[in-house]
Amino acid sequence: MPRLDDKVVLVSGGASGIGAATARLVVREGGKSVVADRDEEKGRALADELGASALFLPLDVTREAAWQKAIAVTAETFGGLHGLLNAAGIGTRTDIESCTLEDYRRVNDINALGTFLGCKTVIPAMKQSGGGSIVNISSVLGLRGASYALAYCASKGAVRLLTKHVALHCAQMKYNIRCNSVHPGYIDTPMVAPRLTQNVGNMSGRQWLEELHPLGRLGEAGEVANMILFLLSDEASFSTGSEFICDGGLTA
Ligand SMILES: NC(=O)c1ccc[n+]([C@@H]2O[C@H](COP(=O)([O-])OP(=O)(O)OC[C@H]3O[C@@H](n4cnc5c(N)ncnc54)[C@H](O)[C@@H]3O)[C@@H](O)[C@H]2O)c1
Repeated sequence: MPRLDDKVVLVSGGASGIGAATARLVVREGGKSVVADRDEEKGRALADELGASALFLPLDVTREAAWQKAIAVTAETFGGLHGLLNAAGIGTRTDIESCTLEDYRRVNDINALGTFLGCKTVIPAMKQSGGGSIVNISSVLGLRGASYALAYCASKGAVRLLTKHVALHCAQMKYNIRCNSVHPGYIDTPMVAPRLTQNVGNMSGRQWLEELHPLGRLGEAGEVANMILFLLSDEASFSTGSEFICDGGLTA
């Protein structure tokens, strides 16, 4: 039995990395994927590869009108909307002294405000579809701090608690909508690629990052997508407002 039989899932940040791996898995498990991203070239190429069960929609997650349009077109094209993965995100290396107001706003606008807009805009469409599952990607850096990641930690901490609010509100309103956060360790995606070649002391960036994880390696996008698939599916029917960690033991 496919695990997402006919479920329609919109993936923000679906053109690359963890979002793209999830969009592929959704189709493999019998669902429909909407690849929504500001990178039109990569997003369209992935949707073409996935065929009739996928659609690309241009989306800048910081724009409310763009979210409204993407959700309306999704429901119109596939006849409903049952899943949302908020994966669009950016990383920066900043500390409290060097971080500019502009940097802080840019990271928080995409990572935190973009997730807020996604959750807010999708709820009416999910209600119309009889319920659904929202998955927000936070990070291990939404659970603990890092001296080099001020704006990123602040944005991912916000995603963690925003998720709990959405879960509690939807439960109280009896919408049959669940909402959970996923907290990856360092995953081998284009976001992390620049750090792999930057030496830390006498170690390569890759080696330094690998040693942070007790399993001794970086994660793969597909490993995080497997956890997200579970949360999008009805197998996770009693999980809401929870933090799901996928970090090779980093936070242990
Ligand atoms: N890779 C990691 O180590 C790691 C660890 C923890 C959390 N995360 C989080 O996982 C999520 C996915 O990251 P990834 O590693 O797959 O990165 P990635 O760079 O491969 O993919 C991110 C995608 O988001 C899109 N995007 C960026 N800004 C956007 C915007 N304003 N509107 C629409 N799309 C936008 C990009 O075009 C890209 O396709 C992010 O939220 C990231 O913070 C990643």
